[in-house]
Amino acid sequence: MRKPNVLVKLGTWRAIPKFFFVLGGFGVLIYVATLFNFYSLRSLHIPDTFCNNINQDRAGTEVRATIDTVIRKIQDEISTVGYTSANTSVPEFASRYSRFLVDILGLIESMEASLPSDQGTGEIRIVHPLAKPKERSDEPVDYFLIEEIRKYLKIKPNRLGKQNFMGANGTFTSIGHACFAMKKDLEEYMDYDVGEICNDDWKLAQRLMVHGCDPLPRRRCFSRAPQLYHKPFPINESIWKLPDDRNVRWGGYRCKNFTCLARNSTGKGFFKCADCFNLTSHEMPRWIKPIYIDPNKNLTTDFVIPEVLAIKPGEIRIGLDFSVGTGTFAARMREFNITIITATINLGAPFNEMIALRGFVPLYLTVNQRLPFFDNTLDLIHTTRFLDGWIDFILLDFVLYDWDRVLRPGGLLWVDSFFCMKEDLDDYLESFKMLRYKRHKWVVIPKLDKDNKEVFFSAVLEKPPRPFR
Ligand SMILES: *[C@@H]1O[C@H](CO)[C@@H](O)[C@H](O)[C@H]1NC(C)=O
Ligand SMILES: *[C@@H]1O[C@H](CO)[C@@H](O)[C@H](O)[C@H]1NC(C)=O
Ligand SMILES: *[C@@H]1O[C@H](CO)[C@@H](O)[C@H](O)[C@H]1NC(C)=O
Ligand SMILES: *[C@@H]1O[C@H](CO)[C@@H](O)[C@H](O)[C@H]1NC(C)=O
Ligand SMILES: *[C@@H]1O[C@H](CO)[C@@H](O)[C@H](O)[C@H]1NC(C)=O
Ligand SMILES: *[C@@H]1O[C@H](CO)[C@@H](O)[C@H](O)[C@H]1NC(C)=O
Ligand SMILES: *[C@@H]1O[C@H](CO)[C@@H](O)[C@H](O)[C@H]1NC(C)=O
Ligand SMILES: *[C@@H]1O[C@H](CO)[C@@H](O)[C@H](O)[C@H]1NC(C)=O
Repeated sequence: MRKPNVLVKLGTWRAIPKFFFVLGGFGVLIYVATLFNFYSLRSLHIPDTFCNNINQDRAGTEVRATIDTVIRKIQDEISTVGYTSANTSVPEFASRYSRFLVDILGLIESMEASLPSDQGTGEIRIVHPLAKPKERSDEPVDYFLIEEIRKYLKIKPNRLGKQNFMGANGTFTSIGHACFAMKKDLEEYMDYDVGEICNDDWKLAQRLMVHGCDPLPRRRCFSRAPQLYHKPFPINESIWKLPDDRNVRWGGYRCKNFTCLARNSTGKGFFKCADCFNLTSHEMPRWIKPIYIDPNKNLTTDFVIPEVLAIKPGEIRIGLDFSVGTGTFAARMREFNITIITATINLGAPFNEMIALRGFVPLYLTVNQRLPFFDNTLDLIHTTRFLDGWIDFILLDFVLYDWDRVLRPGGLLWVDSFFCMKEDLDDYLESFKMLRYKRHKWVVIPKLDKDNKEVFFSAVLEKPPRPFR
């Protein structure tokens, strides 16, 4: 490799600023090269641990990224010099200067090629810095064999090499980290022909989500729809009427129609909310008429909607129902001109389709996920039949803090018929007390059906203002 005589070639004072720029670039190079050596040496002397590998890989990636940046800058400079050389008063200098730059470029590229890496090809590559790390063999992308997953996971640098309107240099599509533990299932899920009809695999998708592969990757195939979709009933009819059976794909459910789901029969394939599809007799009175567990003692954990809304007259407008159900809470709240989004997954029955066909907004969301709402926005969160005595205490904490995040100051948390073992009650109540909310309602009563071993808990709590700067 030819060593350019820098000082001779840059004999004119006009070149000095550019000279300093290039010198600066060299400085950076030497610095990162040293850094890289340091990490390499360290990993030679210290037994190879996971940490060292990570450090070394990261250092290598950084070196590579920096070198790429230097290369790109020099290339830019070369094209600028070439462009202006036609107009410059000293064409001789300009051509000398660009030759010098080309030399430097050659040196740096050969240096990059000698970096220990799987892809040092030495050819001129202009790669967006954000796209670099994903090319390494130990990156998530390379963990999967299905091309569609790899394509989805790759960071997509913005075209034109500029930041997009969101201030990011690229788009970062993500999947839940548990996807890596469920590689086979995910690969099955992502095995399709682009542009074709997807497999009928919502169940596989839901299983992946429930087990933490959440979010799932997007797919580039057309999801299956019911064979004959009949337009939904108008809203004045749809709310309290069983929808058209043809509007649901029934594969994967034990019942094959809504009548079966509404019937009081066993073996419907789900147990929570077994009566929730019986709109007329089971759903109608909910949150309007309390059900007394022991009518002689007026014992109930049901609060009725007018009673709860009276706590904050006119203030409750939007909210979330995080429950297992068919949207009846949203239906009742609609009568009070309150918009409720109903979050549920399809546990053994087409809950989401049912909610949508009744005319409400279904949110297909697992408990694994942070709520997709911004801080301090919702007026109300209602929950029933979902968080119960099965839930881990730490998880409950995370869930409650997340709910607290999205509730606005003065918003209400309505815990509806939470049940658990008697001996666990105090621990669960601690979690709710930890929020330090104002207690408007707070009821604990024994659940009479299971040998008095379980208890019900209901509460309406108000998020306090937190006027901290
Ligand atoms: C040279 O300069 C003239 C005017 O200053 C400009 O119109 C022209 O585009 C320039 N050409 C190049 C190659 O920069
Ligand atoms: C995004 O690109 C711009 C210039 O293109 C750069 O200044 C910035 O550091 C980049 N941001 C990140 C996070 O890489
Ligand atoms: C629903 O509304 C439509 C018009 O908006 C009306 O024709 C129809 O009779 C209504 N149905 C019921 C059950 O009220
Ligand atoms: C509904 O499905 C059940 C079996 O799941 C079947 O016995 C019944 O005939 C069906 N009813 C209608 C109206 O299709
Ligand atoms: C709903 O339940 C009631 C009482 O259990 C029953 O009489 C009615 O037939 C059920 N509705 C449907 C659609 O099965
Ligand atoms: C429906 O079934 C539930 C439990 O499966 C039972 O408690 C209820 O009494 C039944 N209702 C009717 C009307 O049979
Ligand atoms: C139950 O409540 C109703 C109305 O709130 C009241 O009239 C009745 O006396 C109460 N019964 C008992 C046993 O407390
Ligand atoms: C809901 O809004 C409608 C139309 O604005 C109004 O007529 C009705 O009284 C409201 N209902 C309640 C319970 O506020």
